[in-house]
Amino acid sequence: MIDSRPTRNLALELVRVTEAAALAAGRFVGRGDKYGADKAAVDAMRLILNTVQMDGVIVIGEGEKDEAPMLYNGERLGTGEPPLVDIAVDPIDGTRPTAHGLPNAIATVALAPRGTMFNPGPIVYMDKIAVGPEAKDVIDIEAPVEDNLRKVAKATGQDVDDLLIVILDRPRHAELISRVREYGARITLIPDGDVSGALMTAMTNSKVDMLLGIGGTPEGVLAACAMRCLGGNIQGKLYARNDEERRRGIEMGYDFNKVLTLDDLVSSEDVFFAATGITDGEFLTGVDYFADGATTESVIMRGLTGTSRRIIATHRLTKLSQISQIPY
Ligand code: FBP
Repeated sequence: MIDSRPTRNLALELVRVTEAAALAAGRFVGRGDKYGADKAAVDAMRLILNTVQMDGVIVIGEGEKDEAPMLYNGERLGTGEPPLVDIAVDPIDGTRPTAHGLPNAIATVALAPRGTMFNPGPIVYMDKIAVGPEAKDVIDIEAPVEDNLRKVAKATGQDVDDLLIVILDRPRHAELISRVREYGARITLIPDGDVSGALMTAMTNSKVDMLLGIGGTPEGVLAACAMRCLGGNIQGKLYARNDEERRRGIEMGYDFNKVLTLDDLVSSEDVFFAATGITDGEFLTGVDYFADGATTESVIMRGLTGTSRRIIATHRLTKLSQISQIPY
């Protein structure tokens, strides 16, 4: 007989982590201080993660790329009791938009059983393709982009010129962008934030069909955790910026030719994911302040059940300031 007793949904606790990070970062919106914003979000995230009943190890930290204040890889977090989990964090996906007061910055975190998350080590970038549930079986990161466009159009019951493709607006994507345009699909070029870019492909209320292009490796693993919950798919291939990075990566055992499937990126279905908006975006509304308070919007998900929840929270900042170390 199936033991149908409901088990703990850690995503319901993770939402406090991303809310705290978003509220802390919210004070830095438009202040031109990327470092200060990141530090505030990191400190808030660490404080709340340490209250969660778990024995967690950071596998996906952030910081190496920008030498930002880090939740560093290997850091132990939580109360130290079971479950044993891997932690992926991105205290701010979109430090630049936060510092400039532009859309689409989020705070995000994911948990998976110990040893199940891909550890990218120092490899900063990954080529990615991500889609929602309808097209999950038809993508192939190694196939020509035109094949993927044609197959995703067919799988989603659309014509190629109906498709909306998310691509990070970077010079490295010039050829990709022109091929997608030439084949007839539409593009939304995003200045930053490819975690939400990937997730939008699988959210029911979104117009986006596919994410393509090279972005952060940590962001790829975080997106994979959410895809486990949403039923979509993501594939990746590590990308070296230069020969030295490639040589170092190969020495450390990384394979730049291997296709990283969803299973490679996170091998368990038993994952939890949470994200909170810092600035307004199509994915989430940002922190909104009012006299003595703020509202946040978050999404939380659980892989085992596929349940996804949106949580709108009202925070009373005077009360919080009396009991919290976070400078709200
Ligand atoms: P951070 O805010 O964490 O720096 O990441 C923003 C981001 O746009 C990610 O969403 C994306 O994966 C990555 O940067 C792309 O890197 P780059 O800006 O170096 O092209």
